[in-house]
Amino acid sequence: MRKRITNGKWLVILVTLAAILVFAELLSGQTNSLTDAQVQEKASSLLRQMTLDEKVAQLSQLPGFSVPEFKANMGDRSVDEIIRTVGAGSVLWVPEPKEINRLQHLAVEQSRLHIPILFGLDVIHGYHTIFPAPIAMASSWDPKMVEGAQSVAAQETRAAGIQWTFAPMVDIARDARWGRMVEGAGEDPYLGAAMARAQVLGFQGEHLGAPDRVLACVKHFAGYGAADGGRDYDSSYVPEEEMWNVYLPPFKAAIDAGAGSLMSAYMDLNDVPASGNPWLLRDVLRQAWGFKGFVVSDAVAVWSLVTHGYARDLQDAVYKAFTAGLNMDMASGSYLKYLPGEVQQGRITMQQIDDAVMPILESKIRMGLFEHPYFDESRIATVLNDPQHQQAARVAAQRSLVLLRNDKGLLPLDKSGKTIHSIAVIGPLADAQADLLSMWGAIVKPGPTVSIVQGIRDKVGSGVHVEYAHGPNIRRTIPSPFENLPITSSMKEQPEQSPAEAHKASEDAVALARRSDVAVLVLGEINLMSAESASRSSLKLSNGQEELLEAVVPTGKPVVLVLVNGRPLDISWAAEHVPAILEAWYPGSQGGNGVADVLFGDANPAGHLPVSWPRSTGQVPIYYNHNLTQLPETSPDFKSRYWDIPSTPLYPFGYGLSYTTFSVDNLKVEQPVAHVGATIDVSAEVTNTGSRAGDTVVQLYIHQRAGSASRPVRQLKGFERVNLAPGAKQTLHFKLGKDELQFWSPIKKQWVVEPEQFDVWVGEDSAAKLHGEFRLTE
Ligand code: NOJ
Repeated sequence: MRKRITNGKWLVILVTLAAILVFAELLSGQTNSLTDAQVQEKASSLLRQMTLDEKVAQLSQLPGFSVPEFKANMGDRSVDEIIRTVGAGSVLWVPEPKEINRLQHLAVEQSRLHIPILFGLDVIHGYHTIFPAPIAMASSWDPKMVEGAQSVAAQETRAAGIQWTFAPMVDIARDARWGRMVEGAGEDPYLGAAMARAQVLGFQGEHLGAPDRVLACVKHFAGYGAADGGRDYDSSYVPEEEMWNVYLPPFKAAIDAGAGSLMSAYMDLNDVPASGNPWLLRDVLRQAWGFKGFVVSDAVAVWSLVTHGYARDLQDAVYKAFTAGLNMDMASGSYLKYLPGEVQQGRITMQQIDDAVMPILESKIRMGLFEHPYFDESRIATVLNDPQHQQAARVAAQRSLVLLRNDKGLLPLDKSGKTIHSIAVIGPLADAQADLLSMWGAIVKPGPTVSIVQGIRDKVGSGVHVEYAHGPNIRRTIPSPFENLPITSSMKEQPEQSPAEAHKASEDAVALARRSDVAVLVLGEINLMSAESASRSSLKLSNGQEELLEAVVPTGKPVVLVLVNGRPLDISWAAEHVPAILEAWYPGSQGGNGVADVLFGDANPAGHLPVSWPRSTGQVPIYYNHNLTQLPETSPDFKSRYWDIPSTPLYPFGYGLSYTTFSVDNLKVEQPVAHVGATIDVSAEVTNTGSRAGDTVVQLYIHQRAGSASRPVRQLKGFERVNLAPGAKQTLHFKLGKDELQFWSPIKKQWVVEPEQFDVWVGEDSAAKLHGEFRLTE
């Protein structure tokens, strides 16, 4: 018998998540209770006692491993010696907890002013318990779940002695060739802002300083996802209006949620490298948004200002980065070497230095580091091995999976042993563990991971025979640089195979499918294929995986394709020939269980795509919120499209199926005509029209028909994930206020709400048809 997900089970899951949040909140009550004025007074008093070198040390983040640029700048000066003599703002990437306490003892006991170090690490979606990768978590459209997940990540991180995570990554990504799409929330500014807010609240709590939370660092400021050709680190050219309307909103949301720090991006933005870009770091961040925290560069990005051809030499780079508004140099040692000279020669004033140091000291004070610089190593194991964390990761995986196709209701599969006696689990990612964690998850300190074949075996027990065939190995054509870093040396690609070995592995897999009742193929990308420095020119399934799929389908056995990947792939063939397709992304430590829960119906999938899914690589960059153009695709003859394929995506932004069905209707706009400044109330009814309980994500889109600038054909401006029993109906209410209706006009050079006619659609994806309209008047 297929097991149904009952409302009761969801309740238990949600109560567990809520309990984790409440627990973390209770602990956050232990925060130091200094007022803003007291924090400032303490920081100022320290500042008054500091020498120039000590101040510059606070503006520097030292590497916890060997970095050539740092070595070139610092020569024989060791990290230990720097900490003892002048202190350090921060140290990054110290993998061993013992070493963190040791370095902290050096700073607190041996440096003159006893200022503690802030330790930083890339905890992007988990430290020990690895949650689904950010693109997967965004697919849940469930900010509360995401907040809970990052609060668990914060607890584990803090228990291991790290107080600062370089997350959330909130870069909008419209080009799937770019390897870092996986680290963000996809293509949409509204969903991106919701995920940014949720993650900051999860990491930091309501305010900076709770013992079991960490300082968030929103990154990479800004425009990194628009890299030319999708090539990582390459230049971005983004007009100002597109920055304000598309790329900046998630950063603004993160900052409004209290993010205490921010990381500047690597690339040139409109010919000025982001890490030395005064428009970004001063005009937008400090002046327009009033950001009070501090900015750290991306790794050695100050040094890179020379490589960009923006600074003449390192001294010039330091001047340009610092005066643009960059508080802290990550790992290059350039501030340590050149900043004192800039002050001595009068190009930079002591007041400027003090202004840059203040927010760093204030953050340390707020984080409680002066009272509690050390951490209790004996607590680590208990916190990391809390079974509730694994449960939260499993729920997160279930809620992130996106069902893309389910022809004739092939899924969920029967696990009783009555109709299916044998399952062939096939593919180079079916037994993967580290690859389910995405790159950052695999690099930190991941605990045990459940592979997909393991999850399936555990689910069906002994009643169904499960056999596994690996198929061909997956490799990058050129290796990832992360394979060679000392801290990440556990990251390895699958071994090289001769063509004959790969062919034999595929043949064995096809033979297994032939003698089984059902084939589950797990294909996609190893974690190093979709990450930093992992851009691709082709979105095809690589290394013979497509050929394997196309050989298994003709066996006539029912085939389920599970995708493990960090970006949408070219699955046009599969979309026509494979009856069931489940997008798992990198689903985390409990990925195997989460996937099995969905495959066998113990969880009903409800993830929806946070990106438009291209038909082929030639369509990227692709995004749903494009402008109409003078000849939209619906025009009769001349039109904006390719002649060989439509310009619509394979699956639209916001798309996702369920094992039940829903209808969305009865759209009501309460104010069909209203003055600019009014809030428009929109409601719609959603009904579960199928026979299972399940969730769907109801989405609201608007379009402004005319104005001072062309407006996107659709823009997401509201969403809600709802759970409904079979036959149940719910009315959802959305509000369209100033935040939703305004845009930054390139003509007026400011934010405007314009008196115009608007369309509104509500439905389950960005192609929703249920339509209403309203008009704003002067
Ligand atoms: C470079 C990456 O771009 C950034 O995301 C990361 O936080 C730093 N390295 C530190 O690891």
